[in-house]
Amino acid sequence: MVGSFPNTRDALNEVRFWVRILKEHSLFISLSLPCSRQDLIAEAQRFYELFQGLQNRVESKAGLDQRLVDEIRHAVEALIAFKHKLMRMLVTCELRGPLYPLLLDHITREAIHFLDFLNCRPCSDTLVAILKEQSFFLRIMKEHIEFIISLLDPSERELLAQAQASKEVFSDLLETARDLKSMARSRPEHFNRVIQFTETVTQRVTELRNFKATAHELAVLCRLLSAIPDPLLLDHVRREADKFLQELKDMRALLRRWECR
Ligand SMILES: [Fe+2]
Ligand SMILES: [Fe+2]
Repeated sequence: MVGSFPNTRDALNEVRFWVRILKEHSLFISLSLPCSRQDLIAEAQRFYELFQGLQNRVESKAGLDQRLVDEIRHAVEALIAFKHKLMRMLVTCELRGPLYPLLLDHITREAIHFLDFLNCRPCSDTLVAILKEQSFFLRIMKEHIEFIISLLDPSERELLAQAQASKEVFSDLLETARDLKSMARSRPEHFNRVIQFTETVTQRVTELRNFKATAHELAVLCRLLSAIPDPLLLDHVRREADKFLQELKDMRALLRRWECR
């Protein structure tokens, strides 16, 4: 049963952020489909227009009404169904081309994450919920690095070496987040290691965010060799890192309640 949606400034900003992200996913899909599948390209473009219309509306409003939230929810569900259809076609080789299955899975998970928010499912601030959210975003960050590695030209050796080192760091952070999440299920009275871990994650995500911003700047200036279909992709992943940083800031404030001094 879905409750009524919280009409707060934070909720509005969350919706604005994800509606724009999902609009861009539709663009990235349309750019990555083979030109022999004009039907699927047109479908992706229709989703782009749908989310552009929703973005215009959420940007111009000071608050959210239930009707608009329901419309957004239906659009997100339809986009998830479209992504699932493409995934079935990719894994059965009915569809071939430059759309990586893991990239499609990644953007599907992001859409499901937003749908959970719209359905008010993640509204919990327990220690396990915080670590679950960190695990979600750490996986997203690790995959961003993997996508960048697979799209950079092999001659971009310095950037590739930086990205490889960063991938190791994020793989370890993801594994640690999962370990801590499992330990937190014992409901400890205090868990200072999680506070220390969250500070480390914040530092590392800040570095990754700056790496993405630099890569975006280089791509816009045409100073970067890659198979990236549009520099917007790098700006998109930078905004997702900024979103994680914002959440980490809120988490650090919440985590103080589990601190033993
Ligand atoms: Fe995304
Ligand atoms: Fe992403």
